[in-house]
Amino acid sequence: MNDLDPLTSFAALLTSEGRALLDEVRGTEPAQELAVATRLRRGHPVGLVSAALGQARLRQRAVAKFGAADAAGMFFTPNGVEQSTRASVAAYRAARFRELGVRSVADLCCGIGGDAIALARAGIRVLAVDRDPLTAAVARANAEALGLDELIEVREADVTEVDTAGYDAVFVDPGRRGGRGRIFDPEGYSPPLSWAVRAARAAPVAALKIAPGIPHEAVPADAGAEWISDSGDVKEAVLWFGTREAGSVRATLLPGPRTLLGCGLPDPAVRPVGRFLYEPDGAVIRAHLVAEAAAELDGGGLVDETIAYITADSTTATPYATAYEITDQLPFGVKKLKALLRQREVGILTVKKRGSAVEPEELRRKVKPQGPHSATVFLTRVQGAPTMLLGHPVALDT
Ligand SMILES: C[S@@+](CC[C@H](N)C(=O)[O-])C[C@H]1O[C@@H](n2cnc3c(N)ncnc32)[C@H](O)[C@@H]1O
Repeated sequence: MNDLDPLTSFAALLTSEGRALLDEVRGTEPAQELAVATRLRRGHPVGLVSAALGQARLRQRAVAKFGAADAAGMFFTPNGVEQSTRASVAAYRAARFRELGVRSVADLCCGIGGDAIALARAGIRVLAVDRDPLTAAVARANAEALGLDELIEVREADVTEVDTAGYDAVFVDPGRRGGRGRIFDPEGYSPPLSWAVRAARAAPVAALKIAPGIPHEAVPADAGAEWISDSGDVKEAVLWFGTREAGSVRATLLPGPRTLLGCGLPDPAVRPVGRFLYEPDGAVIRAHLVAEAAAELDGGGLVDETIAYITADSTTATPYATAYEITDQLPFGVKKLKALLRQREVGILTVKKRGSAVEPEELRRKVKPQGPHSATVFLTRVQGAPTMLLGHPVALDT
C-alpha cells in the first residue's frame, strides 16, 4: 500500500489495523514523526502508516475547534478541518433550530460534519449531504465515531439535486474556498448564494452560513441576519429564513450566548474622549450595532464619526464591548509615545488601532517599551485628528 487514492487510504484507516495504528500514533510530536514512521513501517504498509500520522496531525489541529475529547476520535481532511464550524458556534445554532421547533434538518454541504454533529446532539435528525466522496466518507465515520449514526444519514450527492421536502429546515454552508483561496463574491460560493437563498425560501425554516464580511446590502430583505463571535473573534454571519425575523439584525457573542438586537438607532453623537473607552466586540461592529451597544452605556458617544470606539465618563458593565480606562490622550507621534511610555515605565505594550495605517509591530519596535508596567495604546482618529490614547483594561462584571 504505497500510493493509494485518498478514499482507499481513508477506508484502510477504518479497518482494525488502521484503528490500532491510529491509537499508536496518537499525540505524536512533529519532531518524533520520522522515528515513529520508521519503526511502524517495519510491520505495516507504508501508505497506512503515513495516513495514520497525517490523521493524527489533523486531529491535533482540530482540538481548537472540537475540543480534545471529540477531536481524538473524529476523522478529518485538511480542507474539512479548515472549513468546519467550530463546536461552540454549531451547538449555538443547533439550539436555535431546536427553539424554533425544528426536529429534522437537511444539512446541505455538510463537510466533515461539524454542524451535523451539533444538530444531532441537539436531538435533531439530519440528512447530511456533500458531493465530495472522501468528505462524505469522513462525515459518515464521524457520525459513527460519536455514536450519532442513528440520527445522521450521510449522502454523497450534489446538493442541487437533493429533494429536501419533508424536512423541517434546511441549513446550507457553501464552500467559500477555491483554487486561489477565499472566495469573496457570494455568487462564487459553491453552490452560489442565490441558489442557497432559493433553497432556503422553499423550506419552512432555513439558515445559511456566510462570510462575516458580507455587505449589508447583499442580505435579502426577507432574511434575519446574525453575526456570531466566539471569545471576541468574529466567526461567521448567518441568514435566517422563515423565523419571523425578516429584516432583523443581531450580534451574538459566545460563550453565552449574549445577543444584541438591532433596533435601528441612528449613529451615536461624537463627544470628547471621556475617562473610559469601549471597544465593541467584532460581531457588534460587523452587525452595525455600535449605536445599540453605546445606548447601554451611560452617556456613551463616538470618538469620531467614522470610528467604532465608544467613550463615556463612567463604566457600565456590558458584554458587548471591552472597557479601558484612558490615562493619556495625545496627538499621534512616535517620539511622543516613546517619551510617555518611558515616563510611565511601560514594558508590555498592546497596540490597538482603528482608522490608522500604522503597523503595530513596527511601532512597538520603534518605541522599545521597557519597564515593569503594561498598557494599551489605541491609534485612532479623534474628531478627525490622528490620536493616541493610552490606557488599560478595566474588568467589569457582566
Ligand atoms: C464550508 S464546507 C461545510 C462545513 C460544514 N458545515 C462543517 O461544519 O463541517 C462546504 C462543503 O460543501 C461541499 N460542497 C460544495 N458544493 C457542493 C455541492 N454543489 N453539492 C454538495 N456539496 C458541495 C464541499 O465539498 C465542502 O465539503
